[in-house]
Amino acid sequence: MNADQFFEIVDGWQLKITKFDPEQLIHYGSNLLCGNGYLGYRGTLPEWGKEEYQACIVSDTYDMADGKWRELSNAPNGLATELLLADQSLDFSPVKNLNTNLSFNYQYGIFKRNSKLKNVINRSSADKLEVESERFASYSNLHLIANKYQLNNLNQDKLLKIRLGIEGDVWDLNGEHLTNLKNDYETEQAVLYLQGTTVESKIDLVTAMSFNFKQGLVKNMRIISRAKSIYLELTIQPENNSCKFERNMVVYSSNDLTDPLAAAIKTAVQAREKEYKQLLIEHQQCWDVKWAVMDIKIKGNLLDQLAIRFNLYHNIIATPAHSEYLPIGARGLSCQAYQGSAFWDQEIFNLPMFLFTKPEIAKNILKYRYHTLDGARKKAQDLGFAGAFYAWISGKTGQELCPDFFFKDMISGRKIRNHFNDWQIHVSPDIGYTIWKYYQVTDDLDFIFNYGAEMLFEIARFIHSRVHYNDRQDYYELIRLLGPDEYHENIDNNVFTNYQSQFVLKKAIYFYHLLLNKYPEELARIKSSIELTETEITAWQRIAEKFYLPEPNQANLLEQFDGYFELEDTTAEVIKKRLINNQEYWGWPNGIAVFTQVIKQADVIQLFTLHDIFNQDILAANYDYYEPRTQHGSSLSPSQYGIIAARIGRSELAYQYFKKSAFIDLMSTNKAVSGGTFIGGIHTAAAGGIWQLIINGFSGFKLTKSGLEFNPALVEEWEELEYKLNYRSAILQINLTPAKLKIKLLDMQTEKPVEIKVKVLAREYILEPDSQLQIKL
Ligand code: BGC
Repeated sequence: MNADQFFEIVDGWQLKITKFDPEQLIHYGSNLLCGNGYLGYRGTLPEWGKEEYQACIVSDTYDMADGKWRELSNAPNGLATELLLADQSLDFSPVKNLNTNLSFNYQYGIFKRNSKLKNVINRSSADKLEVESERFASYSNLHLIANKYQLNNLNQDKLLKIRLGIEGDVWDLNGEHLTNLKNDYETEQAVLYLQGTTVESKIDLVTAMSFNFKQGLVKNMRIISRAKSIYLELTIQPENNSCKFERNMVVYSSNDLTDPLAAAIKTAVQAREKEYKQLLIEHQQCWDVKWAVMDIKIKGNLLDQLAIRFNLYHNIIATPAHSEYLPIGARGLSCQAYQGSAFWDQEIFNLPMFLFTKPEIAKNILKYRYHTLDGARKKAQDLGFAGAFYAWISGKTGQELCPDFFFKDMISGRKIRNHFNDWQIHVSPDIGYTIWKYYQVTDDLDFIFNYGAEMLFEIARFIHSRVHYNDRQDYYELIRLLGPDEYHENIDNNVFTNYQSQFVLKKAIYFYHLLLNKYPEELARIKSSIELTETEITAWQRIAEKFYLPEPNQANLLEQFDGYFELEDTTAEVIKKRLINNQEYWGWPNGIAVFTQVIKQADVIQLFTLHDIFNQDILAANYDYYEPRTQHGSSLSPSQYGIIAARIGRSELAYQYFKKSAFIDLMSTNKAVSGGTFIGGIHTAAAGGIWQLIINGFSGFKLTKSGLEFNPALVEEWEELEYKLNYRSAILQINLTPAKLKIKLLDMQTEKPVEIKVKVLAREYILEPDSQLQIKL
């Protein structure tokens, strides 16, 4: 893969797209996304519309417009722009020779464009009209997108018309969400707005727009109100052959506050008063605080450095860190695919980066799971189970959003009944596992008292109700399910799910006893609120002791599920030839992978990245076995293989997986449509996976019972790796070179400083306050 095909590297934070390719519009829109966890504005030109996939996805606006898919809504586009010279519209259609450069700064989420238009009416071809614009989605005010726009090389004597509008006709995936559109120009405040109400959920969504001309005289203004949009047409006399204005798009919904229109207008006015420069400074300060702990620096390869920042940036802006009530969407806020909702990706892929840098964000993410417990309880109940069976696709309420029919059989055109929603049960133990990890890192007992214990108990209850006792074998097992590998449905004893479930049962029992012995009042409160009985705890204990945990066989191999080794042994390359239609779904019930050992994504390997319980020989044997049989049909997969490759000392292979994962979006390697369903947009789990691959893979970081452990496997290409870890309120800076590992205690945000135990390549050290370790490798 060659990066030059897609972009030029400006520096470790910025890229530039100089060879504009109209085929890449979907990817540009996602990769060059301005976002802040509240909204995501796609990387499109202000002159573009829905045909160019323009959209601004807003969190907390779930709605079902087509009777099938509940997804987030798009705000009307408050940056819509039309330019007219001599009453003729200038054409910015995304054709191959559109002379446009796009650039993006991932440090501050700034989108820039520069277009040069030749042959514009009444001009010689040498005389190019230049359009520059720049924008960011503010982190100091989440409702605001600030924009500046400039036209150069204008003909001084010719009047120009600029239409600044709010366009309600936007790129929606599954139906138009806004009805009852109302628009107006508030003359007193000089703010334009367009408001609509979502079809099913009846949320009012407002976009307001204010502007301010910095150069160019406004000679005339008229309002153009259309069915789905409102524009102000401004007639401008250029000044010094230029025209320059600033503009603010503001979005509010009735889920944010009771009068979103008033709030949007007020914010639009305030933003205009502050001006772009000041807004940018405030926004940059917010990013500086994040990067101070979240940045990962490497020396030795600028492209990799940029790719790392790209992925960290996207994991950050996908995350609604401002709220404890909202999920991280599998495609973040880059488009409506995957319904703006959380999968297991959220805990297992997105969260670890926050857990070890800004644990308060990890806490918010877990609190979201607490607030959606009722949805999980309902799902369990509806399917005849107890406790909390979390939704496979979880939106605001936690009720299951995953439709019964997800993909389509591309040959017959018939719907496929996938069982992601009722059989992919590992999501519940995955959440339980993460509660434990959060506790291990933060020691936050209050969280356990108020949220964690109740969730764990409810998850344990679910597992209890879901297991079967196999009396011939005298063990408890989990049958009829899917593990992480989604191609094989209706399988029994998925090794990943069994280990995860037993682990979580044990942790529920652990907290039960911890509370019983030390905090009986807390336990009594929780027990009475969820009517938990001693008999249940005894049953969990029995199940945990007799849980079927498949062991490695004589060849050190763990069988992914019962009977897996008997399936046709082949590879993805071989079976790919069996496809009749390229867009065919490979999995259940009849796809080309179903009766073979070809798997979609890391499964046994996924178990290894979460549980450090197998020795190196077992890791290596399973890596060698499963690696050639894995298609990596999910973007979740490569980072996990990379971590294990690094752990077994194959850092060059790990590096290949780094490339595969880091460039999924940057080099547009993933398909946007599968089985007839649009699945494009930013792969936020892969973005989070990059953090894990570097920290847990290349620097070999592990959290153990006694402290922190490092078994570095730095790739040759990188001369140095530097990052920070937040562990129990201490901020550590890690510097790794091929020869040396340096661990420095930067800050201890706690009253009682603690000693931190560190193990490096099996040797133990103590990191004391104000000290640093330097270890030769
Ligand atoms: C993967 C799942 C993942 C989902 C959302 C699917 O393709 O197989 O593991 O949770 O995408 O990212």
